Amino acid sequence: MSDSDAATGGELDAELAALLDIERFDPPAKFRERALLKDPAVYERAASDPQAWWASQAEELDWFQHWTRVLDDDDPPFYKWFTGGTINVSYNCLDRHVIAGHGDRVAFHWRGEEGQERDITYAELLGEVERFASALKGLGVGKGDVVGIYLPMIPEVVVAMLACARIGAPHNVVFGGFSAEAVRERMEFSEAKVLITVDGAARKGKTAPVKDRVDEVIGDLATLEKIVVVRSKGTACQMREGRDVYYEDILAEAEPTCPAEPLDAEHPLFILYTSGSTAKPKGILHTTGGYLTGVSATHRYVFDLRAGGDPDPDVYWCAADVGWVTGHSYIVYGPLCNGATSVMWEGAPDYPHKGIWWELIERYGVTILYCAPTAIRACIKWGAEWPNKHNLDSLRLLGSVGEPINPKAWLWYHKVIGAERCPIVDTWWQTETGAIMITPLPGITATKPGSATRAFPGVSADVLDESSGEPVQQGQGLLVLTHPWPSMLRTLYKEEERFIETYFQRFGSETYLVGDAARRDGDGYLWVIGRIDDVVNVSGHRLSTAEVESAIVAHAEVAEAAVIGQHDEDTGQAIVAFVTLQGDIQGDESTIEGIRETVSGRIGKFARPKRVIWTEDLPKTRSGKIMRRLLRDIAEGRALGDVTTLRDPVVMQQLQDQVSQARAQEE
Ligand code: WTA
Repeated sequence: MSDSDAATGGELDAELAALLDIERFDPPAKFRERALLKDPAVYERAASDPQAWWASQAEELDWFQHWTRVLDDDDPPFYKWFTGGTINVSYNCLDRHVIAGHGDRVAFHWRGEEGQERDITYAELLGEVERFASALKGLGVGKGDVVGIYLPMIPEVVVAMLACARIGAPHNVVFGGFSAEAVRERMEFSEAKVLITVDGAARKGKTAPVKDRVDEVIGDLATLEKIVVVRSKGTACQMREGRDVYYEDILAEAEPTCPAEPLDAEHPLFILYTSGSTAKPKGILHTTGGYLTGVSATHRYVFDLRAGGDPDPDVYWCAADVGWVTGHSYIVYGPLCNGATSVMWEGAPDYPHKGIWWELIERYGVTILYCAPTAIRACIKWGAEWPNKHNLDSLRLLGSVGEPINPKAWLWYHKVIGAERCPIVDTWWQTETGAIMITPLPGITATKPGSATRAFPGVSADVLDESSGEPVQQGQGLLVLTHPWPSMLRTLYKEEERFIETYFQRFGSETYLVGDAARRDGDGYLWVIGRIDDVVNVSGHRLSTAEVESAIVAHAEVAEAAVIGQHDEDTGQAIVAFVTLQGDIQGDESTIEGIRETVSGRIGKFARPKRVIWTEDLPKTRSGKIMRRLLRDIAEGRALGDVTTLRDPVVMQQLQDQVSQARAQEE
């Protein structure tokens, strides 16, 4: 580091330290003046009649047939919204904007890793979606058939999702960072009929052979009839006669029009697999009318969106991946439904250089940036000189999602990126909730760094005492949602019992158990602390410890493994694996690499353990249950609590010694 860099860093640290004393940040007057919502009475209005509030949001959408009932709550927890109504998500995201004369508006400024650019207008997107929807029908995909999508951040992923929505075929998108093995598993669970994938995907200057990897594992899945391959990188791939077709070929031959199918408000829109407490991922099922109502209303008000018709329209950028729920709701469905102009970036935040995000913000005049705290922490590490090279004056609002944002990252985001003029919306929600649930409203809510503040209008959140189940007025407890909301998951695909057990057993069928602990402060602000189940959050990626354990034991030399999440400066949490090897095999660096490779192949690179700790045995209760709490204490270097229930207390001492040795080596 040069002297001048050191000086800048030091000054910045001092400025940030001064900000630490500020407890609350009011919405800047200039922002507030023009905000869509600025009257706090909206909260009371929504709370006094949540159904009327959500119905008024649903009125913003185009329905083929109006609903007859807003909320059917006859059979909790199986809630239905806007029953009797028919609607189509792709019609609301595309056709209605084109019909209103906005066909020339840019839907996405797409930017490829090597600097390629493609502006896609609403009219162009509609044209391609209609063709691809016809092509899917031509492949035999009908209403209700599940379509798998395993694509990188290229425009075709949006086309594929909307084409499915157009014909009522629920999609099942798998994040491109998951391994082909994970794709196979998800296709199998969801009984997908078609899989849409790609020849190759950009990975920081290299091309990953996606179709080849899929071929290695997909075998003969009983239900999978067709694989559609997008020619993105021009890599050669083996096409199996009768099963595989190129996207471009079927598009060229397809009927150019395909009217949007009027679908029941409760028709399934998508399944998205996410991690739960066991090794088997949960298929979160979302439906049509309620989901679109939730994502469009939250996208409009949380991001204070001004779409193209406005004299000063926004350029919005959600820097997530479409393969996660954030991408579904806030890259695709929310923004398109609201007629927004967005940026879509194919690559990583540090390729071709560590300032690429800021370069893109300047290039496209981005006004709203929505990203994960992990990315902000990485930027802090790389240094303020990267954003400082660019003009970020266009920014007016910043968002955060996916994990708790630590005050230091919040303040850096506020100061270095937002130049103290942009409100920050720290949005708490989940794959299950479909849309943002706890968040500031940027023109109304005073923010406190690290708190997601309060529930969105029409949403009821509470903190309950772990043992009594009574609301905690001030202090820590379990976060719950106490009133149904339109974008809530409807069930776990083909696992109804698990749906009830996971979310609606602990406090009854009318109280949704979130799975996070939270604290309510004296002002009623909510601070989400983290998961209470065996789910870890690595860089905003949700993983189950059981899933990683079962991947590790697939390694030939491993006898047993226990995985925990450990606090990590960069990634929020990091995966630590305690591993017992078979017989008297001695583990070394190459064994660790082998274990990491196995996890990479089974789940994906992002799930690889950061640390592997060898152990002759794992701490277990007398009934044989692994005591993860103790492992967490050891890994975090905390004093050990009660170990009397352990089968073999000596194990703990050995482990503690091993961990301190490993620490000493790392330092
Ligand atoms: C965590 C991502 C604190 C939380 C949209 C939740 C957060 C899980 C926040 C859901 C936030 C998400 N503050 N924690 N603003 N946002 N989380 O399903 O533990 O991938 O339960 O959805 O991420 O992760 P998921």
